[in-house]
Amino acid sequence: MELDLEKVQWIFRGNIVVPTRNPFSAPREPELDDERCRWIGPGLKLLIDHVLYVNEEGSISELRPASLFAAGAIDSPRLVELSKNEFLCPGMIDLHIHAAQYAYTGTATDRPLMGPNGWLETYTFPAEQRLGSDPSLARQVYEGVVRNTLLAGTTTAVYFATLHLDPCKVLVDIALEEGQRALVGKVCMDRHSPLNYTQTVEMNLKESEELIEYIQMKSGQQTTSAKLPLVLPLITPRFIPTCSPALLTALGKLAAERSCHVTSHISESVDEVAFSRQLDASEGLDNGVGRTDAKIFDGHGLLTDKCVMAHGVFLSEDDLDLLQRRGSAVAHCPLSNFCFAGKSLHCRNILQRGGPQVGLGTDVAGGYSPSMLHSSRMTVVASQSLQHQAIANNEDVDHVLDYRHGFYLDTLGGAKALKLDNRIGSLAVGMEFDAMILSADVDSPIQLFDSDNVLDIFQKLCVLGDDRNIKAVYVQGRRVKDCNACY
Ligand code: GUN
Ligand code: FE
Repeated sequence: MELDLEKVQWIFRGNIVVPTRNPFSAPREPELDDERCRWIGPGLKLLIDHVLYVNEEGSISELRPASLFAAGAIDSPRLVELSKNEFLCPGMIDLHIHAAQYAYTGTATDRPLMGPNGWLETYTFPAEQRLGSDPSLARQVYEGVVRNTLLAGTTTAVYFATLHLDPCKVLVDIALEEGQRALVGKVCMDRHSPLNYTQTVEMNLKESEELIEYIQMKSGQQTTSAKLPLVLPLITPRFIPTCSPALLTALGKLAAERSCHVTSHISESVDEVAFSRQLDASEGLDNGVGRTDAKIFDGHGLLTDKCVMAHGVFLSEDDLDLLQRRGSAVAHCPLSNFCFAGKSLHCRNILQRGGPQVGLGTDVAGGYSPSMLHSSRMTVVASQSLQHQAIANNEDVDHVLDYRHGFYLDTLGGAKALKLDNRIGSLAVGMEFDAMILSADVDSPIQLFDSDNVLDIFQKLCVLGDDRNIKAVYVQGRRVKDCNACY
């Protein structure tokens, strides 16, 4: 095979990890090992010694076994050769992260979510509000979160920003400058919020529209027609307790008019679920008993097929059916679920029932770790915890997920949740090149032994690896992390 080197931005040669489907769905092809492909698990393949190239547009234009290329044919200054301890993988997709809360990540782990002395009132609202009055702080916090999540392999982030428009624009600018794919939402709230951190329905709507236009203008400028814009708009009611029915209706209409992505928090903790239901009941709905969060959002047209709802640990099977029918997805945030709910999402059940789509979020700063590798490990821990409870209760059910399910959720699961899986979330010809190189060769907590085979090495990277093991990161073909420059 010949390569047109003029049109190539990068050439990679080595082992490549490719998620192909929800591991619990029916396979589309027989998943049999051969000398060029090993199946790490259902729907997760390892392409052995392949060549991938990325064109000037930042998309993947070839992916074939290296053996098909003539000797010397891929010798190029643009060639990146991976060692046997390295893997080219799709980048990770954080479905739920509060950019403004990055300022206090690693602190504030001591309170329940709601109430006058709760986590939101004590830490969150003041921290978010500060960014509205201090643009230089907004820049500092947002540069921190974008750069550090990129270094940790997050190539796409679904960001809650703040109530105030100006800092939201700063976040958009920084994502574009640093080269992170992002969905950015102005947080909307008009009730049960501090006086200095609330807006009228009209103001929420006006600033949401302005941010959508700002994103489309800025992101469109940087993108040629064939590419997915790097930053996408997001309609972001914070959650039902802080959003009146009038605000939710207005945002539902906006979502339909602009066909933007939507995000919020759903059925996330006992106190939140009870308060939402009580507020709904006070409107006289559902015979004065109040509806579930899913039914309330749906009543306002917010459960769209581009909607990702965070948490969902208290969603009933009926609620899950409703989300699935609407094409809405769940962002599983296992770490913050431990903190705020003491309950874990039945993630394996959701994957097995085939919907709604599910991916992972860090939920910074309700979750203290901004790392998606950490989030997938917490998913495994949460599933084991559910399993032990089930055994104690003599329930005949399997909750257990392992690192392979975690890897799917970190990558293709997130892309499917966003309905962007034709462009990101895996590595295939025609997709955008959002990727990372995992390496066990760097100085890190991972020790390899002669007995480790290629699948053991990949597993150790998933289970023990940290930022140091993420040797390089690319978004839309642009190299946004290069460890030769890092160390
Ligand atoms: N519910 C409403 N707002 C928030 C938030 O900022 N973080 C989390 N974890 N839950 C919320
Ligand atoms: Fe959250």
